[in-house]
Amino acid sequence: MNWPTHVTVKEVGPRDGLQNEKKLIPTTVKTNWIDHLSESGLRHIEITSFVHPKWVPALADAKDVAKSIQRREGIVYSALVPNQKGLEAALETNVDEIAIFMSATDTHNKKNINKSIVETLPILRQTAEEAIKANKPVRAYVSTAFFCPYEGRTNPENVRKISESLLEMGVYELSIGDTVGTASPLQVEETLKHLLKNIPVNKLAMHFHDTRGTALPNTLKALEMGIAAFDSSCGGLGGCPYAPGASGNTATEDLLYMLHQMGIETGISEEKIIKNALFMETQIGKSLPSKSLKAYKGRISTLSKKGDKR
Ligand code: HMG
Ligand code: MG
Repeated sequence: MNWPTHVTVKEVGPRDGLQNEKKLIPTTVKTNWIDHLSESGLRHIEITSFVHPKWVPALADAKDVAKSIQRREGIVYSALVPNQKGLEAALETNVDEIAIFMSATDTHNKKNINKSIVETLPILRQTAEEAIKANKPVRAYVSTAFFCPYEGRTNPENVRKISESLLEMGVYELSIGDTVGTASPLQVEETLKHLLKNIPVNKLAMHFHDTRGTALPNTLKALEMGIAAFDSSCGGLGGCPYAPGASGNTATEDLLYMLHQMGIETGISEEKIIKNALFMETQIGKSLPSKSLKAYKGRISTLSKKGDKR
């Protein structure tokens, strides 16, 4: 197989992971978490989103988070924004990169950002234009790229059209989202084949949610097709509050385990990410979906029963 030798893993836990949590996490806990994640070798962390606080109360402290983190050189700290109002707030905090987002299906787009696809495109065009003018690279998510919780299976042609419109706005990378975690490797192949007819492979990243355990099989299929950038979330936290049934992203540590076992480099420490997952699990007060975290806790508990101090 012709796997990529290096994969870029983009951590979205502080944004996608925390946006769906019922329990409000104090700002200092979020910033501590981001600061520790910054020590793991990650090169890209999506730290928050500048959306309406009534729509996503869990991230109402976006400005404080973005202003309080300890920036580490070489790391891109990005933020999600839906429009110019969000961009203005993000620029006040001097985040390094802007992520815009929309859906490939009209109903999810309306439920998520209160606009049709046709209404959203000019808003995002202007937002991207202004971000680029402010010297911020722009990345774009295409949500419900495989399945919409309201409309069912997504036509790959709609994903292609939206992707091309976003690329025309100057975005440097598209993150193709399995928002509710329903895609299978076959559907990933079908959709990617369609996109790759017109879009260079280095413009594509994948954003898999792991609702049904298909995130890693889907990652494998995308790797086979040359994709070398993946979003994931420490601990496997995550989910879109406006996509019923959506649960966490691929857990970063599970993704790292698979990639490293396959000899694919990421530059990121699995162990440090697992410790960060453990930290957030304690703060949230419920078990996180990550399998590597479970394995780690199982190993620690066995060793401590045996009196082993390692
Ligand atoms: P709206 O109500 O249509 O906004 O919401 P509006 O433009 O009509 O303005 C109404 C009020 O909101 C105004 O205030 C605006 O100033 C204010 P008023 O005059 O009434 O006092 N407003 C804002 N306030 C703060 N920040 C802003 C902002 N924009 C307008 N940015 C809006 C439209 C987009 C704001 C709303 O629908 C929203 O915030 N939606 C966010 C939903 C969200 O965050 N979803 C989760 C992220 S997407 C996701 O998770 C998927 C992804 O992970 C990929 C995948 O998994 O597929 C990315
Ligand atoms: Mg997501």
